[in-house]
Amino acid sequence: MDARTGLPVVGMVGAGQLARMTQQAAIPLGQSLRVLAVNADDGAALVCADVVLGDHRDLDALRRFATGCDVVTWDHEHVPNEHIRALAADGVVVHPGADALQYAQDKGLMRTRLSELGVPCPRWRRIGSREDLQSFGDEVGWPLVLKAARGGYDGKGVWVVDRPEDAAELLASGTELVGEEKVAIRRELAADVARSPFGQGATWPVVETVQQDGICVEVIAPAPSLPEDVADEAQQLALRIAGELGVTGVLAVELFETTDGRLLVNELAMRPHNSAHWTIEGSRTSQFEQHLRAVLDYPLGSTAPTARWTVMANLLGGPDDVEPKGIDERVHHFMAHFPDVKLHLYGKGMRPGRKVGHVTACGEDLEDLRARTRAAAEYLMNGGEL
Ligand SMILES: Nc1ncnc2c1ncn2[C@@H]1O[C@H](COP(=O)(O)OP(=O)(O)O)[C@@H](O)[C@H]1O
Ligand SMILES: [Mg+2]
Repeated sequence: MDARTGLPVVGMVGAGQLARMTQQAAIPLGQSLRVLAVNADDGAALVCADVVLGDHRDLDALRRFATGCDVVTWDHEHVPNEHIRALAADGVVVHPGADALQYAQDKGLMRTRLSELGVPCPRWRRIGSREDLQSFGDEVGWPLVLKAARGGYDGKGVWVVDRPEDAAELLASGTELVGEEKVAIRRELAADVARSPFGQGATWPVVETVQQDGICVEVIAPAPSLPEDVADEAQQLALRIAGELGVTGVLAVELFETTDGRLLVNELAMRPHNSAHWTIEGSRTSQFEQHLRAVLDYPLGSTAPTARWTVMANLLGGPDDVEPKGIDERVHHFMAHFPDVKLHLYGKGMRPGRKVGHVTACGEDLEDLRARTRAAAEYLMNGGEL
């Protein structure tokens, strides 16, 4: 409890953009996040008053951090599961807990559990050897997809493999692998929900997530032309997964819509997620506020949309030789040109391909919103003419 305000203290392990935007949502709730940051210049460390420096893989650092927190939550999946269990054994309240989070940390465990629950997934198998890979490929066909069971993000840790020889090095590296059939994807969707420890659930509209090279570039809310019954099914599925796995906080369920119209679960994230950044402007309650409400076991907020359509485009760092050169000058021109497109920069240094921010626009005309957010993102990252 914060003695001055009488309000609980939420600690978030990790200080990237998700923690930074959670801090933004914490302010009107009278709170300030405590963050565990690896570096003093991490995105959230720059905007939070209560920053503990330390490594999220170091149990002592985690314990030091958790002291005085009413609840501890996560900005990423990289805290060792046994450390989360150790914190809980110390009496620290953690949301989501280790039992739930393991399914967002390990794609093998996630596939096993979802298969037990009868949740539709791509055909999959754990792959430990060339023989496993050969027999799995004989079954599901080539090319297939290999994934690192743990530690991947933004497509790092996902490989499309044409034949067993292509994976020789990967197999030899000792990386724990999950194989999946290469799904014929019409498009990718996400069903984002929140669940509180009390058991209250809330859903946002199902969105379309547009990916390029394994990284999300655009999100459209709601997913265009998605039949209402399919959207309902996806939301119910996400709520069911949240309940069965005991998820607390925001749960993002990444989905594939297959070319023959089925929905398959790709993966789970148990934290605010890129597919719901649009909720900052596009929903009465943003995912960041909802995550705070949920982990504090407060009643959840309304998820009603604020506009017919909301489109978000990620800002992925461009090349070094961009013209005009300074991001400051590009921001200036962007603002002049797109007064109704909202800018979110994460306080990160620019590197090619790195997620450094996003832009969002809400309105009635979807094609116009898509064109403008795309043009704005393109100009901010790659320069050129407006
Ligand atoms: N089984 C699959 N079939 C076809 N494409 C896939 C498959 N699995 C992943 N992908 C593609 O790779 C992207 C990243 O995979 P994902 O498992 O979500 O990894 P990450 O943890 O990096 O987000 C997906 O969004 C999708 O575009
Ligand atoms: Mg993913």
